[in-house]
Amino acid sequence: MANKIIKSTRAIRGRIEMPGDKSISHRALLLTSIAQGTSEITGLSNAADVQNTLSCMQNLGVDIQIEKDKIVVNGVGKYGLKAPKANLDAGNSGTTIRLLAGILAAQNFTSTIDGDKSLRNRPMRRIIEPLENMGAHIESQMYKAPITIKGGTLRAIDYASPIASAQVKSCILFAGLYVKGMTRVTQPIQSRDHSERMLEVMGVSVRANNGISGVLGPADLTAANIDIPGDISAAAFFLVAGCLLPDSEVELVNLGINDTRTGILEALAHMGAFIEKKDIVTINNEPRASLLTKFVNLHATTLSGSIIPRIIDEIPILAVAATQATGTTVIRDAGELRVKESDRITTIVTNLRRMGANIRETKDGMVITGPTPLNGAEIESYGDHRIAMAFSIAGLVAEGETTIKKVDCVKTSFPDFYKILRKIRND
Ligand code: S3P
Repeated sequence: MANKIIKSTRAIRGRIEMPGDKSISHRALLLTSIAQGTSEITGLSNAADVQNTLSCMQNLGVDIQIEKDKIVVNGVGKYGLKAPKANLDAGNSGTTIRLLAGILAAQNFTSTIDGDKSLRNRPMRRIIEPLENMGAHIESQMYKAPITIKGGTLRAIDYASPIASAQVKSCILFAGLYVKGMTRVTQPIQSRDHSERMLEVMGVSVRANNGISGVLGPADLTAANIDIPGDISAAAFFLVAGCLLPDSEVELVNLGINDTRTGILEALAHMGAFIEKKDIVTINNEPRASLLTKFVNLHATTLSGSIIPRIIDEIPILAVAATQATGTTVIRDAGELRVKESDRITTIVTNLRRMGANIRETKDGMVITGPTPLNGAEIESYGDHRIAMAFSIAGLVAEGETTIKKVDCVKTSFPDFYKILRKIRND
């Protein structure tokens, strides 16, 4: 697996497009597959995770055509999926296994979803228990993938989730499409609501209010053409690079700015960043805009409580930003980071310490005091795409050379990351 050498740079400059939003892309493939009729998807993410969802749906008998600038999904309806001939492979993708499990729990066949080494380590009890409450039969070893789902008739539940997780919520809501009555999920804090918004676009009656989401079933989905905005979680790396490198000016066009995802903008604004929003429009129930950012001297902040689910994927790059901000940044209530593609609390702290940052690990977060100059170092990606990309940005700011090991993992969410970086760096 390839390593990447990153040298420091003076600025990033340019107007760039991000891949399609990964979360919305998964949902578009899953929901159009079980809709009645043909849907066209434009702007689908080219992430490996999304490709895994696409292959899983093809292996469940859905005809999905990949054309030059669109994906055509011939939806089979809620009961049109076929038993797969082999185990379904979710690869590295937590969203694929958890959301798809909700749909498979209601089918009249048995299926098994597996994944790579990292996915096999991630917690699945969070979806297995509520699906079992709905009447599903799911086999696993210690609540880990592979999971075998013996689908059947389910009943509606009112589920109080102990964690704020859009994957858990979406899994239950998707199962709820198949049952009579209101299936409701209450979460301690509001998580991303792309599922609710897309279900509404496809004609399902959805209730969504402050951490409580419900679907009224049984509900059929109507095919819809879905255009996917750019991924703000991918943009976060360049937004932070733009803030940290003097002389930078970047415009990121056509990004999803659903407010359950824009915690990164709030966090950076608290730190004094300059980010301008332009060209705001809403398509398919999802707002989007272009974001313009420039270099600024950042100051420290505290990130805790209700913002955490809205920055959960952006904490690696926010931690890099915090090393360059004046004062002490405290990140807490973020224990979920320990069960992501790597234990991101440990992997962020270990790598930033290697680069000379003043950082301390806590049970559910970290404490970073800045600004400290970063030094080039040998960085482990731990096979985690967001760690590889966050530390590539750290390498742009650092003195000397940074080697990021095993960077192939960036394909998980952002295959063109290094190509774009090469284009916009201004040495
Ligand atoms: C996602 C939800 C989040 C996020 C992940 C994508 C989604 O996970 O970290 O990258 O698309 O629903 P959790 O639901 O585990 O918080």
